Amino acid sequence: MSIDPVLARIDETLPEATERLLALLRIPSISTDPAYKAECDRAADWIVEDLKDLGFDASKRPTPGHPMVVAHSGGEGPHLLFYGHYDVQPVDPLELWDRDPFDPELQDTAAGKVIRGRGSSDDKGQLMTFIEACRAWKEVNGSLPRNLTIFLEGEEESGSPSLIPFMKENAEELKADLALICDTGLFESKTPAIVTMLRGLLGEEITIKAANKDLHSGMFGGAAINPIRVLAKIIASLHDENGHITVPGFYDGVPELPDEVRAQWQNLAFDHAKFLGDVGLSVPAGEHDRTPLEMIWSRPTCDVNGIWGGYTGDGFKTVLPSEAHAKISFRLVGSQDPHVIRENFRNHIRTMVPFDCEVSFHGHGASPAGQMEISDPAFEKAREALTEEWETPAAYVGCGGSIPIAGYFKSVLGMDAMLIGFGKDDDQIHSPNEKYDLESFHKGIRSWARVLDKLTAE
Ligand code: BES
Ligand code: MN
Ligand code: MN
Repeated sequence: MSIDPVLARIDETLPEATERLLALLRIPSISTDPAYKAECDRAADWIVEDLKDLGFDASKRPTPGHPMVVAHSGGEGPHLLFYGHYDVQPVDPLELWDRDPFDPELQDTAAGKVIRGRGSSDDKGQLMTFIEACRAWKEVNGSLPRNLTIFLEGEEESGSPSLIPFMKENAEELKADLALICDTGLFESKTPAIVTMLRGLLGEEITIKAANKDLHSGMFGGAAINPIRVLAKIIASLHDENGHITVPGFYDGVPELPDEVRAQWQNLAFDHAKFLGDVGLSVPAGEHDRTPLEMIWSRPTCDVNGIWGGYTGDGFKTVLPSEAHAKISFRLVGSQDPHVIRENFRNHIRTMVPFDCEVSFHGHGASPAGQMEISDPAFEKAREALTEEWETPAAYVGCGGSIPIAGYFKSVLGMDAMLIGFGKDDDQIHSPNEKYDLESFHKGIRSWARVLDKLTAE
């Protein structure tokens, strides 16, 4: 059977598909903020209803946090499971948005049509590419692709606290031959990509306390230790002059790239100057002996994501603060162990805290890096499907971001995962004015139809 009628159907119904995505984008399903709990629920309900309309056996499944959505198409054949997340990041700073983040619209820009709104690219637009492919398939063939499971989460942006228990409790139902994940990007804007390596993530929050109250820096300054200065010195020492991270044992488990992967990445002809140039930069800031592509795909990092203390309001105040805080994250690669690194980091910091100061820690998420097993012939089939759609050979790439479930599919359910996504580097995910190109959405839907066609062919 030819896939062409399904592709034609996708082209004809793009306006309706876009309207459905806009409707989902209007639901402010911010998972990290408890004030939006009911909205997360509403987003899950919206998708369940849509999947039921489509003929899936779909349900909203409670967890201690936000609900999961699980849907099955039924039937025989290879069992494929699709994963995406319906939750979105908070919108702050709101004043930098050109419009209400939850009043999305299709806009004409110099670079083409874009769907603007929080979650358009991460990840509602992407998860809808798969659902729309199923819809067109059903409308043309009379039935859904067989033996599909759709599994959507509402807590990805808050570290997926309910995910592992849910996967364990529902292992029989969720275990499939292969997981498909749509939460990553294209390789440069016209080249489709399958992600084979993802970085892990470790979050730490640190507080330095000094005097038992805020002080006047005229009265005490010089004599009383300033915790912001202590914290700044600690943070400055986390990298050496070559960009290496100084936490003891940090590089244990960081592999050198296998030669064939290095060669393959060289073939990608990544435009390093453009990558940095697009965001107003020119000089790579990582380890001196690495290329930017290595820096974002295969090397670990330590970044300060936030730092605060003292007086930061308008005007000026000569306070000598009693506390200083920072949020620090590590991107991990290879077999770096997040729990070991957490301990090493804390112990390392403790050795640097001077007299009269106290340090305390608060841990955030800890997920190891993911390495995808691509020997399954499904990978080559999907690559062919993507190459046909984009008319540029699909690339095997790394991903600097983190999607903890990619690793859990293997460690909890023993299944491989294939990551295919259509986001672009300038989508501004997590930032103001997030967008998804209409082309990403349209060709994303077409791509999934082609991938499903290849993967479900007898
Ligand atoms: N979709 C992103 C991961 C991603 C980022 C893929 C950049 C491709 C490029 C995902 O939703 C995400 O934001 N992950 C977080 C971690 C999560 C545990 C909050 C991240 O990478 O910071
Ligand atoms: Mn995402
Ligand atoms: Mn995200």
